[in-house]
Amino acid sequence: MSTLILPDPSLVVLVGAAGSGKSTLAAQLFAPDEIVSSDALRAAVSGSEADQSASRVAFRILHRTIERRLAERATTVVDATNLKPEYRRPLLARGRAAATPIVAIVLDLPSDVVMARNAARLARVVDPAVVERHLESVRTVDSGRLAAEGFDHVVMLRSVADVARLRIERRGPARPREPALTPDKRR
Ligand code: CTP
Ligand code: MG
Repeated sequence: MSTLILPDPSLVVLVGAAGSGKSTLAAQLFAPDEIVSSDALRAAVSGSEADQSASRVAFRILHRTIERRLAERATTVVDATNLKPEYRRPLLARGRAAATPIVAIVLDLPSDVVMARNAARLARVVDPAVVERHLESVRTVDSGRLAAEGFDHVVMLRSVADVARLRIERRGPARPREPALTPDKRR
């Protein structure tokens, strides 16, 4: 079992191709209200998770939600492909602005696993050519590159077993100690 010690709050950025299991993993490790999903927002905006024309509005809401949650010191998970540096850059900027640790969890799974999962989907099969491009992008991502971009911690998941083993242990901020009771107030 591998355990990620997660500072709480953190900004957690999932990275992975369509069909790699980002939403499934997020649902296993985080509370529903901690997850901000570009697909869910696209659906809310347009009535369809696959409607790319709703993307601009969806991402504006995504960024505003992240900003507000980080201001409230609430751990926030970004469920989107986040495959390119230019997609990750504004997320890093929001984490930095809120002085929140930024963690990447990368699903770099074998192509056959991702292609099979995508093909088997009931609700929304993504064009396999798009998934191939995503898989090419995710191969260019590694810990060193993400650290150089500004991620404080990077978890690379390279197999189905790596994903299944991942556990999260949260470490909250050190609380200020309770003021000691003076003898006359003690009962
Ligand atoms: N899946 C699976 N076993 C896992 C994880 C995912 O069988 N351990 C399946 C899911 O049930 C789903 C498909 O693989 O049918 C894709 O998983 P999903 O979590 O939806 O992938 P995402 O990365 O969220 O895909 P997208 O970017 O398109 O939202
Ligand atoms: Mg998803």
